[in-house]
Amino acid sequence: MNGVEAGLAAYTDRWTRYRSLPLQTDISGAEDMLASRDEAAVRQYFEIGESALELITTALLIPRLTDPRRILELPCGFGRVTRHLVTFFPESEVWVSDLYPDRVAFCCATFGAVPLLSKERLSEIEAPEQFDVVFSGSLLTHLDDDLFVDALDFFRTVLSPRGVAIVTLHGRWSPHFQRRWKYMADDDFAVAEQAFLETGFGYSPYPGATSFDLQESYGVSLSAPHWVMRHLERWDDIRLYSYTERGWADHQDVLVFGRPGITA
Ligand SMILES: C[S@@+](CC[C@H](N)C(=O)[O-])C[C@H]1O[C@@H](n2cnc3c(N)ncnc32)[C@H](O)[C@@H]1O
Repeated sequence: MNGVEAGLAAYTDRWTRYRSLPLQTDISGAEDMLASRDEAAVRQYFEIGESALELITTALLIPRLTDPRRILELPCGFGRVTRHLVTFFPESEVWVSDLYPDRVAFCCATFGAVPLLSKERLSEIEAPEQFDVVFSGSLLTHLDDDLFVDALDFFRTVLSPRGVAIVTLHGRWSPHFQRRWKYMADDDFAVAEQAFLETGFGYSPYPGATSFDLQESYGVSLSAPHWVMRHLERWDDIRLYSYTERGWADHQDVLVFGRPGITA
């Protein structure tokens, strides 16, 4: 068996086992990733969570990483993805991190994950461990350029010698998404879109107060692949594995990078 055959066999086994196991379906009353509690919305919530496993499988097949020992999900929110991660990787330690303690506490109590409280500036987190997989679903989609690059750098520094970071982003599809479904009012979005078109990165803060009151800055960010690559190219201790436009649920882009470094 060559490497790709072994990888495919290992992930086929994982999917078969995942399908045979019950999924923990408790949803926090505070979950804000759920549009409503009706049946269709709840079904879609579980489908989007599960679809993260598809992109994680695809990402990890590239470096043939099939047996991650320790996984960090940052941000975990209220566990839309966590519930699937712990079922899919039952022999791994799954760590969960968020800026808001109630989110981390829910994921630890409900899914048996290990807590790591985050900071607004990720580089201020003192991570006690290194991780074979970092999954960051929809965080860099909300950060200004300074916090965005700081977060990418944090993910790089917590990778184990075989670690892989999987990060979702708002890319070229996002202005089209805005016109159909709206992240925010058009005038506010236009600020981010204009800068995105001119420089490859744009950010608009959510206007007014949000429930995200532990952070000074939170909004919608748009990043072009070339802008993200420019930052990654500065780091010799990682290599780029892939960039897939609309790779998460046909919506957010998916960036995958990791070790060993480009010069290793
Ligand atoms: C759009 S939600 C995504 C949550 C989860 N990944 C999911 O897909 O359901 C964004 C999350 O990022 C969290 N967050 C915002 N800033 C953060 C930070 N600096 N560190 C960790 N989490 C943060 C928010 O609390 C929220 O749970």
